[in-house]
Parts: sequence; structure tokens; C-alpha cells
Amino acid sequence: MYKLVKPLLFSMDPETAHHTVSGGLRSFCNLWGGKRLLRAMYAYEHPHLERQVLGLKFRNPIGLAAGFDKNAEYVEEMAALGFGFIEIGTVTPRPQPGNERPRLFRLVDDAALINRMGFNNQGVDVAAMRLRQLKNRQNLVIGGNIGKNKLTPNEEAVSDYIKCFDTLFDVVDYFVVNVSSPNTPGLRALQEKEPLTHILNTLQQRNRKGDVSRPILLKIAPDLTDDQLDDIIAIIRDTGIAGVIATNTTIARDGLRSGGRLTSEAGGLSGRPLAVRATEVIRYLATKSDRAFPIIGVGGIHTPEDAVEKLEAGATLVQLYTGFIYEGPGLIKRICEKLKTLRSV
Ligand code: FNR
Repeated sequence: MYKLVKPLLFSMDPETAHHTVSGGLRSFCNLWGGKRLLRAMYAYEHPHLERQVLGLKFRNPIGLAAGFDKNAEYVEEMAALGFGFIEIGTVTPRPQPGNERPRLFRLVDDAALINRMGFNNQGVDVAAMRLRQLKNRQNLVIGGNIGKNKLTPNEEAVSDYIKCFDTLFDVVDYFVVNVSSPNTPGLRALQEKEPLTHILNTLQQRNRKGDVSRPILLKIAPDLTDDQLDDIIAIIRDTGIAGVIATNTTIARDGLRSGGRLTSEAGGLSGRPLAVRATEVIRYLATKSDRAFPIIGVGGIHTPEDAVEKLEAGATLVQLYTGFIYEGPGLIKRICEKLKTLRSV
């Protein structure tokens, strides 16, 4: 079915297409039996797909990556399409409009996207309220991806992460500290050892205060050097956070087929061209740390084989964004079917 609507969607401006699809899905799910029909068409359940990771039970290892549902508006719709977990956000303490449009570009010849959305979101309070109102979470795992407002200086960033952490604490199952978006000026400087350790230690202290704690993961850029990845491994060990999401979008533009000015648009590149580097980062972290922590692998998964590659490189779970746009929701089921036959990954 997606093959039929894709040409129409791809004829629209990418951001308009995004809102058209999400709004359409919402309307469809609101119809009597709509959600059930979607589930019957796309979702795939099997005990072989279940995973116990981060102290949580995942019904399958394929998640929706951050950025698609920034404001926690489409959690139930995405769950009906078969995702095993949904990561909402990135949310920031205060609402912000993000960068000026156009800010999302399709590189069709590369099966890629470039985005410089700039953490456009309605603010953490709105996201928390929506999650609180969810009627049916069943066994769906929900992650909260948190960031800082554009106008918050890096020296005060920790207070933004605390605000998001506290506000979402009761309504998400795990947290992701996002310091790797290329679209908030200076944000990636927070990946340096000192500021990052400070942010993670502060969150961990709060996390350990009560009876219940939440796994905290760090989302990293694919553009880090090996030395920086070694630092990341040390920081995870020293702060005791639960794991890593590898990777966010890249600022690199190597080997693209698309011509013209599209490739020089500022922002983060995602999709096929990111796949090799994201897998390299996963493999490096898994090998160097001796698989000391779980890794959620993301970047350029467009086929079941791409997902298997990430898992074989050391990822425990995977996420999709751009592959979901190019291949449609059927990709989730195809990956599930493939994984069911492979008991080793
Ligand atoms: C993203 N991504 C992202 N990541 C994040 O941590 N917070 C965010 O707000 C966003 N926003 C966002 C918007 C758009 C339009 C895209 C395409 C991507 C990054 C995303 O979660 C993922 O890490 C990368 O896109 C790589 O995976 P794919 O897209 O190649 O599967």
C-alpha cells in the first residue's frame, strides 16, 4: 500500500508530507476498528522477538527513533504499526519553533534526508501531559529523548536536562540524553568529557534518589573520533549510565550521489549513507568495551539485512527513522520476520 501513496507523498514538501502522514494515521486510528486493522496489517508478534534489555521487556527489538514523534502525539499510532518501542522527543524545557523552513530535505538518489529542524517542539510539559493521557500502553516501551533549549547557554545546560528528566520521570520507561544533534549551535560541545560527565552524574544522582530509577542512555554523533569514543566508554563506566544510542545524524557528506545544492544544505544527514559509519561506531563501542553496556543501533536501516548487520556488530536493539520514510511501515514487519528466523541476533 505504501508503494501506492509514496509517489504522492514524495511530490510534497518533506515536512508537509510528514504532517500529512501523521495526521492521516491519526484519523484512520480514530475510526472504529482502525487501530486494530493497522495492527493486523503491520504488527508482528512472536516470542522469539521479545527482548529483556535495560531491565525492560521489549515486544520486539525495533524502535522508532527520536525526531519523528517529537511531541508524543502519535505513540499509539506508531505502536499499531508494529514498533516495539517509541522514543519521543527531543523535548526541551520550553517550547521552541526550531529553525526556519525549509529545514528538511530529501536526497532521493541516496535514500537519505538532511534535516536542520533545530529541536522544534511544544515543550516537555505538553509531551508529559500527552503521555499521561495515553489510554493503552500495553507492553509498549516509551523512551524520552531530552535536550536543551537553543537559548540556554551550555554552562547552564544541566538545568534544562534536569527539568526534562523530572517532568518525564513518571511517564517514560527510559531516558536519552541528546548532546549530539548538529542543529543546536554548540550542543555537540557537550559531548566533551567534562560537561558530559557533569550532566550525566547530576541526572544519575537524581535517578538514584528515589525507590524507582530509570535507565539513562546517551545518544552520540557518528562523527566522533576513536579517542572520543574511548572517552565515551570511560564516561559510561564512571557515571554508571545504562547504555548508548549510536548514532545521531552526521555532518559528513562523503560519497553522495545526489547532485546540486541539496548536498550542501546545512544539517544532519540520515539514511543509507550513514549506515556504514553508524555500524562502525557500534562495532567499535561493543568491541572496545567488551559489550559492557547495551547499544541501541540506529542509522541507515532500510532492509532487514541492515538491521541484522547492526545487531551482529553489537547492537541489542535497533531504531529507524529515514528507512521508515523511504520503505514504509512494512519494513518493521519484514525485519521482525527476518529476526524470527535468526535466533542468534
Ligand atoms: C532526527 N533525529 C533526531 N535525533 C534525536 O535524538 N532527536 C531529534 O529530535 C531528532 N530529530 C530528527 C529529525 C529528523 C527529520 C531526522 C531525519 C532525524 C535523528 C534520528 O533519531 C536518527 O538518529 C538518525 O536519523 C539516523 O537514523 P536513520 O534516520 O538513518 O534511520
